[in-house]
Amino acid sequence: MSETSTASKWPRHVAVIMDGNGRWAKKRFMPRAAGHHAGVKSVRATVEGCARRGVEVLTLFAFSSENWKRPAEEVSSLMNLFVQALEREVDVMHRNGIRVRFIGQRSLLSDQLQQGMADAERRTQANTGMQVVIAVAYGGRWDLLQATSRLARQCARGERDAEQLQEADISANLELHDLPDPDLFIRTGGERRISNFLLWNLAYTELYFTDVLWPDFGDAELADAFTYFNERQRRFGLTAEQLEKQSAGKAGSAMREPG
Ligand code: FPP
Repeated sequence: MSETSTASKWPRHVAVIMDGNGRWAKKRFMPRAAGHHAGVKSVRATVEGCARRGVEVLTLFAFSSENWKRPAEEVSSLMNLFVQALEREVDVMHRNGIRVRFIGQRSLLSDQLQQGMADAERRTQANTGMQVVIAVAYGGRWDLLQATSRLARQCARGERDAEQLQEADISANLELHDLPDPDLFIRTGGERRISNFLLWNLAYTELYFTDVLWPDFGDAELADAFTYFNERQRRFGLTAEQLEKQSAGKAGSAMREPG
């Protein structure tokens, strides 16, 4: 099946931990910030590659709740990079019909960055192409805590019955409440961890880890991740036999929806 065929099992939603910028820079005797700058090129390649392959949502982990603990100088250079990258990259994405949005604890960010994020969201909100979700000051536990607090307040006010809570109530209160769960998770940089990314949403996601450092991640590496995804059999708790029966019933239909 050709790589661009929509009949193959392409992921609708791809989520990425972009790791390895610091090591990439260190190998070149450059400051860590240079690695983050070089990483912007890979962001562009990944956005383009996913859009070209018909991905509907791409979620990028740009800065975690834990990243605040990095040296102040690195945090501030990353924040400056986000402001600059927003100005340049959002223009390109907007021209390509991409909708941009952000998840995370925005109140912790500078007014300038919050303003840039709000502008980017406003400018691109009517676009109908791929959605790019950028997680900044985001943590999966924070996301779950927010959802839980909201539900607890509704229960306390008598608007909900705590005994009747469903999984869907939690999903509906998370940052990605209106989007499908990621089908494919990619982490570069050699670590095999989720690192407090989309903890709830990644429950059934196919996990792909590569040793490639983020600034070296380009279209060929993205293609490898898609090939890996295409070779997985997503069972969602069913047996292989049950799945075979299901897909025999669906023969001829596109295979984008998980069985
Ligand atoms: C992790 O590498 C990377 C980050 C904390 C920052 C990611 C940011 C970018 C790629 C910049 C552009 C982003 C957008 C969305 C415009 P690391 O520093 O932990 O690398 P290391 O593990 O080698 O130290």
